Amino acid sequence: MPGGRLITFEGIEGCGKTTQLRLLARCLQARGLPVVTTREPGGTPLGERVRDVLLDPSLAPVAVGELFLLEAARSQVVAEVVAPALSAGNFVLCDRFADSSVAYQAGARGVDRTEVERLNALACAGVVPDRTLVFDLDVELALARARHRPTTTAVNRRFEDEAISFHRAVAAAYHDLAHREPHRVVLVDARGTPDEVHARALAAVMDLLP
Ligand code: TYD
Repeated sequence: MPGGRLITFEGIEGCGKTTQLRLLARCLQARGLPVVTTREPGGTPLGERVRDVLLDPSLAPVAVGELFLLEAARSQVVAEVVAPALSAGNFVLCDRFADSSVAYQAGARGVDRTEVERLNALACAGVVPDRTLVFDLDVELALARARHRPTTTAVNRRFEDEAISFHRAVAAAYHDLAHREPHRVVLVDARGTPDEVHARALAAVMDLLP
């Protein structure tokens, strides 16, 4: 993107991507680089409200409705946060982005992939990640972590409560993405300590740094 760089963080629940986003943000800032962090769904007041709806187990949007909610939040965060920050020359680190809809809504929920890609393109308005890090961890291990973390509560565990087969389909879709777009999408081995994983994540974005 003109000026800045967009790095997105992807993977199944409990893979550690949010911790890794924080570590990479700190590392880039320590190198004197301007960093903006955000997340999906969320990142704007509108997006955060949509997030609450999406994660609430008492609500069950049909697959296409779920996709529309995500795209509404996505278009808002692109317009309000991501595109302006890139234009201003920042490194933008985003916790999930359009690839999550390819993995979750197409890969696991079964929405037509071409339609998902079309809506992603509309919401992203030309913004494409320069690098996408997919944190790759055994599905059982990741899910056990996600289900037991203190921030997973009765009002936000709708995805954590999905069957293991759902999470396996998400993981398979991410592997497929990495296979299709090897220059953009990098699988990062997410086993080991946060520092070990961070070293791999940094190596995977090194060519983007000045
Ligand atoms: P996130 O906060 O990243 O969850 P976690 O930290 O548990 O991985 O994202 C919230 C949920 O939203 C996550 O379970 C996956 C789902 N999601 C989609 O299904 N499609 C999407 O396009 C996005 C952005 C998120």
